[in-house]
Amino acid sequence: TILVLDFGSQYSHLITRRLREFNIYAEMLPCTQKISELSWKPKGVILSGGPYSVYADDAPHVDPAVFDLNVPILGICYGMQELAWLNGKKVGRGEKREYGPATLNVEDQSNPLFKGVDHSTVWMSHGDKLNGLPDGFVTIATSDNSPYCGIAHESKPIYGIQFHPEVTHSTHGKQLLKNFAVDICHAAQNWTMENFIETEIQRIRDLVGPTAEVIGAVSGGVDSTVASKLMTEAIGDRFHAILVDNGVLRLNEAKNVKKILTEGLGIDLTVIDASKEFLGNLKGVTDPEKKRKIIGNTFIRVFEREAERIQPKDGQEIQFLLQGTLYPDVIESISFKGPSQTIKTHHNVGGLLDNMKLKLIEPLRELFKDEVRHLGELLGISHELVWRHPFPGPGLAIRVLGEVTESQVAIARNADAIYIEEIRKAGIYNNISQAFACLLPVKSVGAMGDQRTYEQVIALRAIETTDFMTADWYPFEHSFLKKVASRIVNEVDGVARVTYDITSKPPATVEWE
Ligand code: XMP
Repeated sequence: TILVLDFGSQYSHLITRRLREFNIYAEMLPCTQKISELSWKPKGVILSGGPYSVYADDAPHVDPAVFDLNVPILGICYGMQELAWLNGKKVGRGEKREYGPATLNVEDQSNPLFKGVDHSTVWMSHGDKLNGLPDGFVTIATSDNSPYCGIAHESKPIYGIQFHPEVTHSTHGKQLLKNFAVDICHAAQNWTMENFIETEIQRIRDLVGPTAEVIGAVSGGVDSTVASKLMTEAIGDRFHAILVDNGVLRLNEAKNVKKILTEGLGIDLTVIDASKEFLGNLKGVTDPEKKRKIIGNTFIRVFEREAERIQPKDGQEIQFLLQGTLYPDVIESISFKGPSQTIKTHHNVGGLLDNMKLKLIEPLRELFKDEVRHLGELLGISHELVWRHPFPGPGLAIRVLGEVTESQVAIARNADAIYIEEIRKAGIYNNISQAFACLLPVKSVGAMGDQRTYEQVIALRAIETTDFMTADWYPFEHSFLKKVASRIVNEVDGVARVTYDITSKPPATVEWE
């Protein structure tokens, strides 16, 4: 395992990601991690970049014990400046920030770190720079603007690079990271998803012990389904999944999820129909954030009630709460400054832990989304479920603009079902990252047969994105839109008009609320 110590760069998680692509296992921990508290010995250590200045009073610094591990160390950007600071304080403010591509000139061709990366483009992003060689170091690479683009210790396997090899703009950055991990650290290239399943199942068994029970909420989405299946593989019917029907799920969702999880995957699932309670609490509410809060709080109350009702055998108390947290969620909160404020209000079951004295179990916390999908397929979950578009926790409540009532939800739900059915039929579901229908709280005039109608408007949304931070609208064929619009107006009572949303994110968001 390679230890990545995170100084808070927005790119840090990409380091572990790149290594994983070479089947090398890497674990990222906050830069302040005490080495004595590690339960394993890393084969090598990478110090990430970060937004701070090493010479500032409140700058984060690495535990000096990291140098007593006597394993190779690679400092990237801030990580290199940290090495320079600890070896003679050779860091200062650059005259100007260097941001963008540079060409790497390798000075020491024999250095294994740069095997196959000479003259490649590397990505720079720094304000501070080395203003001299750190004590005991030599220059191994330069660029036009950086005389200390790469440095190495004279006798120990300690390296520093000013650029970011983990971003794809560094064309041979992956190779460099591999050189470090494999050729210099001799890390094993044996991390596979099959291994992951085996070790994770064992880890779950060790953690939960022989009698304790675990509960977890499922949503019908890929993360909670994969996490639940893994738990079931590990501890069988001591895992209890709960699906809360909040009254704002998609058409036939609760029924379908029950069938797939229970019959298909052998997961012990209880469906709780709490739609009356949710819709009751949403009565008269039109503000989107209020809707989110009400749904989150109601969910917690319903879930807690259910957790008490499920009495485990032998008087054993349920002791663990399963959460389908993924790696990108973890890294948002891993910052050494403590839990970061950037955690999204999206975390639908976050509030549960405060009230219920449960321990958290997060079997997916090391994985990225596409790895979870791969894992899901290996665990026998259908391709269709594994590649399902994401669906927000507050569900159709934020897709019915204005007040959320049973009849308004029914309109949005039926329109959405037709839209998604047509997308699947056209064979384009997997080209689209997310698609849904919204019901607008405005009425518009229409003509149906000989009748003048005065009914609501459906807005269709479909986006393409890699990370949901930015998104573009999907360019449907006109004939497709024509067909969907006609079906919705004809088949869904209460709709007189259909529009297609052609706004990107930003400036719009994916959801309308
Ligand atoms: P926005 O609207 O913020 O959506 O551009 C980005 C992604 O997040 C989903 N989303 C949510 N998911 N609870 C969730 O679980 C929420 O409150 C929530 N709001 C937005 C949205 O569907 C899209 O995939």
